[in-house]
Amino acid sequence: MSEQGLSNLMHEERHFDPPEELARNANVTAEAYAEADKDRLSFWGRQAERITWAEPFTEVLDWSNPPFAKWFVGGKLNASYNCVDRHVEAGNGERVAFHWVGEPEGDTRDVTYAALKDEVCQAANALTELGVEAGDRVAIYMPMIPETVVAMLACARIGAPHIVVFGGFSSQALVDRIQDCDARVVITADGGYRRGSAAGLKPAVDEALEHCPGVRSVLVVKRTGQDVGWTEGRDVWWEDMVGKQSTEHAPQAFDAEHPLYVMYTSGTTGKPKGILHTTGGYLVGTSYTHWAVFDLKDDDVFWTAADIGWVTGHSYIVYGPLANGATSVMFEGTPDTPHKGIWWELIEKYKVTILYCAPTAIRTFMKWGKEFPEKADLSSLRLLGSVGESINPEAYMWYREVIGGSRCPIVDTWWQTETGQIMVSPLPGVTSGKPGSAMKALPGISAKVVDDVGTPVGNGEGGYLVLTEPWPAMLRTIYGDDERFKDTYWSRFENMYFAGDGAKLDEDGDIWLLGRVDDVMNVSGHRLSTTEIESALVSHPKVAEAAVVGAKDEDTGQAVCAFVILRDSAGDGGKDIVEELRAHVAKEIGKIARPRQIMVVPELPKTRSGKIMRRLLKDVAEHREVGDVTTLADSTVMNLISDNLKEDSSAGDD
Ligand code: PRX
Repeated sequence: MSEQGLSNLMHEERHFDPPEELARNANVTAEAYAEADKDRLSFWGRQAERITWAEPFTEVLDWSNPPFAKWFVGGKLNASYNCVDRHVEAGNGERVAFHWVGEPEGDTRDVTYAALKDEVCQAANALTELGVEAGDRVAIYMPMIPETVVAMLACARIGAPHIVVFGGFSSQALVDRIQDCDARVVITADGGYRRGSAAGLKPAVDEALEHCPGVRSVLVVKRTGQDVGWTEGRDVWWEDMVGKQSTEHAPQAFDAEHPLYVMYTSGTTGKPKGILHTTGGYLVGTSYTHWAVFDLKDDDVFWTAADIGWVTGHSYIVYGPLANGATSVMFEGTPDTPHKGIWWELIEKYKVTILYCAPTAIRTFMKWGKEFPEKADLSSLRLLGSVGESINPEAYMWYREVIGGSRCPIVDTWWQTETGQIMVSPLPGVTSGKPGSAMKALPGISAKVVDDVGTPVGNGEGGYLVLTEPWPAMLRTIYGDDERFKDTYWSRFENMYFAGDGAKLDEDGDIWLLGRVDDVMNVSGHRLSTTEIESALVSHPKVAEAAVVGAKDEDTGQAVCAFVILRDSAGDGGKDIVEELRAHVAKEIGKIARPRQIMVVPELPKTRSGKIMRRLLKDVAEHREVGDVTTLADSTVMNLISDNLKEDSSAGDD
C-alpha cells in the first residue's frame, strides 16, 4: 500500500445498468462526455442557451487571472426573470412550482408559477420601498415556507445578494453573518414549526440586532402567530408591506458576474467562510445539472428533501428547478413529524417521481425499518438521488430496493457549497451505477484524484480529489477575503482547486469519495479513510449507521475506534455484538481496519445539515473533555453517548 495516498480497502462488484426506457429517452447520452472533452468551453456556451439573456455574452470564460473566474463575459440577465417570468410568458403560469407542505397537518399550499411571479414582484417592490438597492446585502432567516423562496427571488430580481441563514442557527450565527457581509435588511418570520411546536425566529433576530446597528429594516412574515417584540421604525409586517404592492415589476438585467448570493459554510477552524456565487454561471451550472443528472422531464415531480438554508436548497429547490420550470415538493417538517411515514405519504400524495436526499436520512429510515415506506405506494418514483456524504453501499442497496422498488437508478452526487452545482455523479441514462461510488465527473467538469505532490494516481489507488478546470457555478471568492479564498482552495496544489476530500479510483477509474482528509487515520503507517470502514460496519445486518475515528494508540500510532447505531430490529445486538462487528470488518476489508474499540450508541453527533462530527467522537475515544458542541443539531447527544458508555461495551485489541 502506498504511503502517499489513502489505502484502497473496499471492493464492490455490484452494479446496475440504466433502465432501458430511461436510457432510450435520456436527456443526456454518452456523447456528451466526448463533446465536452473536445471543446469544454463551447460545450458550456451551448448549455448557457438554457438561460434567457437580456444581452448575449461575448466570451464563455475569462480565466486570465486565476483563480478569479469570469463566466459568460458581457452577458446580462435577471435570475428571477429566468426562474419565473419566462415560464409564465411561455404559457406555463398555471403549472405548479411548489407543492408546499407545512408541518402542521393539513397546512398545504400549491404555488403556481403565475402566483410566484406576482408575489416575487410585490416583494421586489417592497424591498425597493425599504430602500434596498442593487448590491445591498439582505439576510434571510426563515422557516421552510414559500415566502422564503419569494424573498430570495425578490432579492435576485433587484440585484441585492441574499444571505440565507439556516433557521435552526442561533442568534450568534446570525450576528456573525450579518456583520461579515454588512447586511442592511433582514427578512424573517415570527417563528416556524419544529417537531410539533412553534419555535421563535424573531426573538433571535432581535437579540442579534443588538450587535448589528447597520440593519435598518426587518421584514417579518406572520407564520405561527406567536407574540413578538417590535421595534417601531425598524420592523414591518410582510403582509402589510408586501401585500399592498403592485404585482408588476420590471426586472432589470444584471451583469453575468453580478453577485447572486453569499452562503456561509464553517471550516474546521476560524470564522465561517462567505462563499460568493454570481448570477450567469450559477444559473447555467445549476439548471444544466438539474436537467442532466435528474433527467428532468416536463411531467416530473421533483423533491429535494433538504432545507433551503443549505446550498442543496439554493441550487436544487430554488434556482435549478425554477430555472427549468419544474414542479417541486417543498416540505417544512422533519422525517418523523408528524410521523415516521410522512415522506412516503407525501410521495404517494404528490406522485413524486424524483427524490433527492442525504445518506443520513436514508440510514435513519433503515434504522426505523421498512414497515414505514412499505405502507405507501411509491410506484411513482423513477429516480433517486443522494448528496452530502458518501452513501454506504448497504444504504444504497436499501434505498434502491425498499424505496426505489429495485427499478430506480440512484445518482450519488458529489459537490459542495463552493462548487454550487453537482460535479461528480452518474448520468442516469448512461452510467452503470455502483453502490457507494459517485462514478465520474459530469460532462464539462474535470476532476482528478492526485497524490501528495499533485500527480494523478492510477486506478486502484487513493489520494485527494481535485478539480482541474474552472466550472460555471464555481465560487468566485470568499466574501471580502480574496487571500483566504486563494489559501483555502488553490494553494495546496498548483493550478488546481482542492476540495478537502479524500477519494480513490477503482479498477475501472471510477471515483469513490473517502471522507474529509482531516478525518483520515494513520494506523501502523497505513492511511485509512473513515468512509470505507464505516461502510463495512453498515454492511452488517444489525447496523444502521456508523462513525469511525482514529484515536491515539501506543503501538500503532492511531487505532480505529467505531461508534455504531443498531437497527431497531436488532434490539441490543446480543452480548457478542462487539466481537461480531470487529470480525465482520476484518472479513470485509482486512485486519488492518479492524476497530480496536466499538461502542454501541443511541445517536451520533451531527451538524444541522446531517454530517457526523467526528471531532467530538475523537474526544470521547481519546478520553478527553468533549470540545465545542455549539454546531450540533442536538446538543444532548454527547450526554447520551457518554451515559451509554458508562454502562457499556468495549473490547481490547488482540
Ligand atoms: O465531504 C464532501 C461531502 O460534503 C462536503 C460538502 O459539504 P457542503 O458544502 O455542506 O455541501 C453539501 C451539499 C452539496 C464535500 O466536501 N459530500 C457531499 N456530497 C458527497 C459528499 N461526500 C461523498 N459523496 C457525496 N455524494
